[in-house]
Amino acid sequence: MKTVLTGIKPTGDIHLGNLLGAIKPAIEMSRSGDFDRALYFVADAHALTSVRDPEIFKNYVYETTATWVALGLDTEKSIFFKQSDIKEVFELTWILNCMTPKGDLNRAHSYKDRVQKNQQEGRDLDHGVNMGLFDYPVLMSSDILLYDTNEVPVGKDQVQHIEIARSIAGRCNEYFGEGTLVEPQEVIQKNGSYVVGLDGRKMSKSYGNVIPLWGTEKKLRKTINKIATDSTPEEAPKDPDNCTIMELYRLFATADQINALEKRYREGIGWGYAKLELFEVVNEYLKEPRERFNSLMNNKDELDKILNHGAQRASEIAEATMKRVRSRITGF
Ligand code: TRP
Repeated sequence: MKTVLTGIKPTGDIHLGNLLGAIKPAIEMSRSGDFDRALYFVADAHALTSVRDPEIFKNYVYETTATWVALGLDTEKSIFFKQSDIKEVFELTWILNCMTPKGDLNRAHSYKDRVQKNQQEGRDLDHGVNMGLFDYPVLMSSDILLYDTNEVPVGKDQVQHIEIARSIAGRCNEYFGEGTLVEPQEVIQKNGSYVVGLDGRKMSKSYGNVIPLWGTEKKLRKTINKIATDSTPEEAPKDPDNCTIMELYRLFATADQINALEKRYREGIGWGYAKLELFEVVNEYLKEPRERFNSLMNNKDELDKILNHGAQRASEIAEATMKRVRSRITGF
């Protein structure tokens, strides 16, 4: 039995970088059938460490759900649910907390970085740190271990968290016998080539250079027009291998389209035309998903139904694991 699982932190402004770096590969996996069980969940409890507005919070969860479904996640072949619907995750988190040396969490990146920043700025070392942030790696371990997960597809930044989960599981197996918890492995998503943003740097919300997935065609057009270009005159030949527009175009266009546009670059093309070509292919890709996304966002009952269906299926696995874990650890 091979179980694959990954968590999705809910946010607004989902962008092309998220699409190509994380969502698309995961959806392809959900359709591949290369596993016995695939679980995807919206990590809403993790978002509580920073979001402080219930309207925004709820909207993030719905937007994330609608995005994945609109882009083609198969919610029958995979189990798609909301983390906090499965209450066992919080029970397991407490148990795992009791098995985790505090020092391991002191060394976890996101906490350590915060402490370092506070130190540099001459503040109290724990300024701005809530216990949720400190304990984030244990909740994440609980997410993983609750479903007897074997493989966790993640970006490089999450590897340390999987190592922590593995070490907690190993410790429990040592204390309470082999088979208490499954020791998971990370599967690092090979995004050595990242998606480029409007200013030529990596597309990232923190750089403010993203192309959002959703919104009107008009807005997409306007955003693409903001891609930074130089002032080479319109008729001058351009290098297709050193251009943000072309780099993005290659991610969405067919081989024939790419060849044709490269040819026009060499002959000389105005940046406005190149941007229009890019808009056309991205818009073509997003057109149908955009309609599905909008219709789901206007039908929260449908989104609730999808999440409830997933929660029911996830909860069967969680209950079985907790029965085993409780009995091994507490005798009850
Ligand atoms: N921490 C992950 C992120 O920020 C999200 C996440 C939460 C997760 N729980 C998980 C990922 C469990 C994999 C497995 O992207």
